[in-house]
Amino acid sequence: MAALQKTVRFILDGKTVTVDFEKERFSPTITVLNYLRSFPNHKGVKEGCAEGDCGACTVVMAEPDNSGKMIYRAVNSCLIFLPMIDGKQLITIENLAQKKDNKTILHPVQQAMVDLNGSQCGFCTPGIVMSIFALQKSHVNPSREIVEDALTGNLCRCTGYQPILHAALKVSNGQPDHFSEKENFIKKELANLKSDHSDIFINIEGQTYIQPKSLKSALEFLSEHYDAMVINGSTDVALKQTKKFELIPKVIDLSAVQELKFIKEEDDQVEIGAGLSLESIKSKLNGQFQAFHEMLKVFASKQIRELATLGGNIGTASPIGDTLPLLFAYDAKIKLIDQSGERTLNLEDFIKGYRQTDLKPSELIYSVIIPKHQNIWFHKISKRKDLDISTVSAGFRLNLDHGKVKDICLAFGGMAAMPKRAKQTEAFLTGKVWNETNVTEAMKFLKEEFQPISDARSGAEFRKLAAKNLLLKFFEERKDEISTAR
Ligand SMILES: Cc1cc2nc3c(=O)[nH]c(=O)nc-3n(C[C@H](O)[C@H](O)[C@H](O)COP(=O)(O)OP(=O)(O)OC[C@H]3O[C@@H](n4cnc5c(N)ncnc54)[C@H](O)[C@@H]3O)c2cc1C
Ligand code: FES
Ligand code: FES
Repeated sequence: MAALQKTVRFILDGKTVTVDFEKERFSPTITVLNYLRSFPNHKGVKEGCAEGDCGACTVVMAEPDNSGKMIYRAVNSCLIFLPMIDGKQLITIENLAQKKDNKTILHPVQQAMVDLNGSQCGFCTPGIVMSIFALQKSHVNPSREIVEDALTGNLCRCTGYQPILHAALKVSNGQPDHFSEKENFIKKELANLKSDHSDIFINIEGQTYIQPKSLKSALEFLSEHYDAMVINGSTDVALKQTKKFELIPKVIDLSAVQELKFIKEEDDQVEIGAGLSLESIKSKLNGQFQAFHEMLKVFASKQIRELATLGGNIGTASPIGDTLPLLFAYDAKIKLIDQSGERTLNLEDFIKGYRQTDLKPSELIYSVIIPKHQNIWFHKISKRKDLDISTVSAGFRLNLDHGKVKDICLAFGGMAAMPKRAKQTEAFLTGKVWNETNVTEAMKFLKEEFQPISDARSGAEFRKLAAKNLLLKFFEERKDEISTAR
């Protein structure tokens, strides 16, 4: 195994910072939020919810992409463990304004918020400014839809969102700022940091944090530490610590493993690396896989999607995870890897029960293979459109032969202990004419096929009603398209 690094290095306030966890007595799973707030000059970042819902803790992580272009990503600092920013630039609200001739010159984003009355009590404001900052660094004259998407992860309880949206629209005009001037310097500094590509191994006060920098190292570490909690974006796992106050004794953090961040397109399928963020997938799929794109549009917030990965969503095996029912509809496969090799299985066979998968302790999720099916449909029912977990979700696939159902998949989230297909309803419809009479009849089967639970999101009866109505919605929305595609 290559040399191990005990420290974490990143750029903050324009300078390289080295954190030696043993000397400074920080837990390796300290969040970036709590790390920043331990300094008197970084209290601008706020804790509202500590679970990724409010955006008050938003900071920006920056690093060059493969082409050398600096990418600025707004993320929730309450969900990131400090070692995850190793080799990156961390930008906080304190870095935006500049001092010149003893005067404070606000960053254009801050000035727009002032000019357009985008702030009242100010609690949410640092997070909102950081989200707009990341937006205007990545889009010139974005559409209103893009602006709204960039702000779905930020709640404001007093100002109302119109002035904030106006500020974001006004300022995203592609004008360079003082960050643009320093980009070359920052890139050089980051390249220096990255030149030492040693794996991170921190062991302190009953916690071990391992951050392999390659897939080979990750598998080696896993073979020695079967008991470690594997993380990628940590948007699911971090809540164990921030909300349930559990100590995570051992972590293998895959966030620096580049071999898991890929997308490979072939004529009839696409293979997506388990470590690619959902936001990267959204931009790389570029309108293809329409239903997948629709699902990502209502998946959490932009800040969460910048961190959350496809492997992580599947790894949770959550009954209300959004990708699973849809990937069932796509008939996706999953590739698993360990030191002895790879195995590929149907995603449906990988999910075994409530938050249970077929993953062996020695294995990692390597990738997901999605066939290019037509006629795939997704819908998510949740209390709020944005940044909410599904009450019921549906991923459907339908292929007709001369007007009759040849192939159908009706997969649901939120209806059972794990995402599940309505196999009896599928069997009833197979071979029948795809018309309103048969669909209405099938809805009766569907209502009886699941025994969902009642919980804080909804009662069991509502879930049953929602599931059957989703089938009708699918029929109504797609009937013209499907009959002409015959
Ligand atoms: C505010 C908020 C909103 C959310 N909204 C949604 C939503 O709308 N829809 C939804 O489905 N989910 C949602 N989530 C849940 C979460 O963001 C997703 O499940 C996300 O995709 C998890 O990815 P991750 O990389 O962060 O996983 P992590 O938290 O890093 O890991 C999750 C699980 O996957 C395992 N794992 C991760 N990578 C691998 C790998 N390569 N190999 C093996 N195991 C692995 C881990 O061991 C762990 O068990 C939300 C979470 C928050 C905090
Ligand atoms: S504190 Fe609310 S999103 Fe982080
Ligand atoms: S200005 Fe008060 S919460 Fe947004």
